[in-house]
Amino acid sequence: MENPYESSRLLDEYLLFHYGDVDDALPTEAIAYPQAMREAWGFPHRTVKGFRNRDAHLGLDIGCAVGASSFAMARQCQRVIGIDYSHSFIHAANLLREGKTIDYRRVDEGMQAKHLSAQAPSDIDLDRVTFEQGDAHALREDIGTFDQVHAANVLCRLAEPVKLLQRLPQLVRAGGELVIATPCTWLESFTPSANWPQGSTIDWLKDHLLASFALVKTWDEPFLIRETARKFQWSSSQLSLWTRRDGVW
Ligand SMILES: C[S@@+](CC[C@H](N)C(=O)[O-])C[C@H]1O[C@@H](n2cnc3c(N)ncnc32)[C@H](O)[C@@H]1O
Repeated sequence: MENPYESSRLLDEYLLFHYGDVDDALPTEAIAYPQAMREAWGFPHRTVKGFRNRDAHLGLDIGCAVGASSFAMARQCQRVIGIDYSHSFIHAANLLREGKTIDYRRVDEGMQAKHLSAQAPSDIDLDRVTFEQGDAHALREDIGTFDQVHAANVLCRLAEPVKLLQRLPQLVRAGGELVIATPCTWLESFTPSANWPQGSTIDWLKDHLLASFALVKTWDEPFLIRETARKFQWSSSQLSLWTRRDGVW
């Protein structure tokens, strides 16, 4: 299967999802969108608010897409690495990190589109953030250990998600924090069903993580991805905050 996250359509959708204003996504002139859709906007920033430490050293954002959560983490981490498998997303994230503006299309319907532009937030030190293309199944051995690791909506896009779960204890330093978000949308096109959780995703996470992490809390965050003016993906991601136990590998 061709990687959908390399397509120009998904690049446009993710630039809007990560950098667009709610009024760009849900302009009220033509359509009376339900309030719940507006409340679902801003997901890449809301997941990062799940970390408790506001003065951390190193952060890692796995499956960072076009980078908005990595930039948000830089408000509380002195250094952040954002990693994604998509060359196209990482190219865009790097342009934004260089202070550049990216023009993109917000499709309204058919051939009708509005031209918008994305920029990195102006209130953070962009030098704190680096982006790299990489595979969450096999992160480079020398990547290091982090105070905060963020993995949003990526587990159910991996062919072998357990490989990432098994790597997490090495990635989070003792006392460090892990935020996982997952809408539990397991699909054969990304993950062979033999590798899906057999029961609920949260129980499967506990089975794999509790030996090395304490589960602090779980909660839900809605998110909204606009495809056209009249077609959106509204989903509810299940979030969990974990802290790395001391001395348990
Ligand atoms: C559903 S998107 C979520 C992106 C972002 N975290 C967010 O919440 O908006 C899934 C992301 O995982 C990335 N991805 C898929 N397979 C990957 C892999 N093997 N390693 C790293 N990233 C991967 C995709 O390129 C895409 O950016």
